[in-house]
Amino acid sequence: FQPKLLLGQQVLVTAGPTYEAIDPVRGITNLSSGKMGFAIARAAHEAGAAVTLVAGPVHLPTPRGVHRVNVTSAQNMLAAAVDYAQKATIFVATAAVADWRPALAAEQKIKKDGSGVVPTLSFVENPDILATLAQSLRAQSGDLFCVGFAAESQDLLANAQAKRLRKGVPLLVGNIGPATFGQDDNALLLVQASGVQELARESKINLARKLIAHISIKTRARGQN
Ligand code: C5P
Repeated sequence: FQPKLLLGQQVLVTAGPTYEAIDPVRGITNLSSGKMGFAIARAAHEAGAAVTLVAGPVHLPTPRGVHRVNVTSAQNMLAAAVDYAQKATIFVATAAVADWRPALAAEQKIKKDGSGVVPTLSFVENPDILATLAQSLRAQSGDLFCVGFAAESQDLLANAQAKRLRKGVPLLVGNIGPATFGQDDNALLLVQASGVQELARESKINLARKLIAHISIKTRARGQN
């Protein structure tokens, strides 16, 4: 039995990596599988929400009943997220957005000319999608509940607490190591102003259901249900 904890809510989820082009055939990405974000989208739909899943390039089936929008770069992901956030009441940012992109993507394939001279890449910083939406009017007025994720290799609690404040979100979820990329299970640390709660290691879909139940209580506390 799945209680419809998010009935009437509009949930926006970002998931997977982004892909930042170097030229038409090359780019920079990361090892995010998208599994946690897809599990959260599925759990939110099970809980009765209308769900939009903005996904970077991943090889995962779309959860049943979920509206999926495929994007590539961080800039594409930001545009899609800003668009769908207009109506959303909950935003869960699980995407592993590239921090930097090549300053200029070459229009043609960069050729190896045999001289042994290697190209030099310079980078510019990508927009922070979570921070952008968390600072929007809708989030500030309490109409958009924003949830961030953090994958840290050390000092998870301190880093997650600092990240929660830096991003300006009420709830920051830490992936408890070791590296969770691509795995089917995970353990989570829920970090809020009121304290910290641990969700023990189990499948990502069960964790997603628990996280959705937690978020439903928090949004109800903010008078949104
Ligand atoms: O700063 P860091 O990348 O560790 O923050 C992780 C959190 O911020 C995740 O929720 C991620 O989806 C989000 N994020 C984002 N846009 C970025 C970088 C991170 O939405 N450019």
